[in-house]
Amino acid sequence: MKILGIETSCDETAISLIEVDEKGEAVKILGNTVHSQIDIHASYGGVFPILAKREHQRNLIPVLEKTLMEASMLSTGQNIVTSEIEKILAREPKLVVMFKEVMPKIRKPDIDYISVTYGPGLEPALWVGINFARALAVLWNIPLVRCNHMEGHVLTALIKKEPSNYSITKPIFPALSLLISGGHTQIVLIEKIGSYKIIGDTRDDAVGECFDKIARMLSLPYPGGPKISKLADEARKENIQSPELLPRPMIDSKDLDFSFSGLKTAVLYLVKRLEEKGIALDETIKKGICREAEDAITDVIVAKMRKAIEKHGIETLIIGGGVIANKNIRFHLEKLASDCSVSLLLPQFDHATDNGLMIALAGYFNSTKTIDAKLPLKAFGILPLGPRA
Ligand code: KG4
Ligand code: ZN
Repeated sequence: MKILGIETSCDETAISLIEVDEKGEAVKILGNTVHSQIDIHASYGGVFPILAKREHQRNLIPVLEKTLMEASMLSTGQNIVTSEIEKILAREPKLVVMFKEVMPKIRKPDIDYISVTYGPGLEPALWVGINFARALAVLWNIPLVRCNHMEGHVLTALIKKEPSNYSITKPIFPALSLLISGGHTQIVLIEKIGSYKIIGDTRDDAVGECFDKIARMLSLPYPGGPKISKLADEARKENIQSPELLPRPMIDSKDLDFSFSGLKTAVLYLVKRLEEKGIALDETIKKGICREAEDAITDVIVAKMRKAIEKHGIETLIIGGGVIANKNIRFHLEKLASDCSVSLLLPQFDHATDNGLMIALAGYFNSTKTIDAKLPLKAFGILPLGPRA
């Protein structure tokens, strides 16, 4: 089965084409393109939804062409862009112009399903991907599947690189997923693929958001997560400490919830105090603060996961979301899994942040739930993966 996955929920325009074997045991990544808009949003210190929408419109067709080319499926053909397709793209003025110019000349590729993220994310950004996916599905007459972005993050951890392809792990349940991204910090109890219960959530900022906001206070560029992680690593190597310790919010609370806004505020006050004392926020001080902030976040995450494993008799940990690109968090989760004798599934580093592969995989696991591309399909800014337990 071949699936084309389209992802535009935030600032990455990403399309991937995968092939899953009949037994559902192996997957080949035939083409995978991620076009990041980070440079465009960096000057705003965060993702600017209207700019993201504009950029997705510009990038989707080139990203599709690149993915098809990589899969050796880009060849010339003849399609007719009907008025029905133009109507689907009516709210994407830039995209519709490019679509009418380019798509009639691209031959229908040999794919079975198109899958697209319909939430959660930035609604203006999601709409572009949804309307593009619908237009493609109608143009090529290919079934359409809609996917939850966070399920994509969960499923990405199931694939493991082998010499010639990726194997698909069948996790032992019950499993626990930790989803840590720019918009989410959730602990999810999984009884089987497709059955998700949220047992822990953040009460305020998401962990990635906390990284990004702390980075901004330290005048580090957006996105802050990777930069904080790099400086924290350097601090450990150079044995640099923070001038003050930071709190570990809610680390001892009985529930599995998180709160990161207090940590962010603590950094804000620490920076202010240093300023008042006339201490410059130089590279060494910044490194120390990054290390302490990363340690605080890691400590809280590990403590909550330990509690959740013990409470729910967990067999497998499945980690997803952009923040798991963080080496320190990865290392401590590996240690936790080994301490608790549970298996740990982590996404490959370069699959941790948003990509089309995760949506193609989610499309595979949801391929029985196709929808009619001719009917309206709504974007959901907020879209829980399951009920809150
Ligand atoms: O999953 P993702 O790509 O997008 C969302 O769905 O939100 O996650 C992006 C988040 C950003 O907040 C970014 O700062 C964070 O992941 N991030 C990291 C690292 N790499 C990306 N956070 C900490 N350490 C990293 N190495
Ligand atoms: Zn994400």
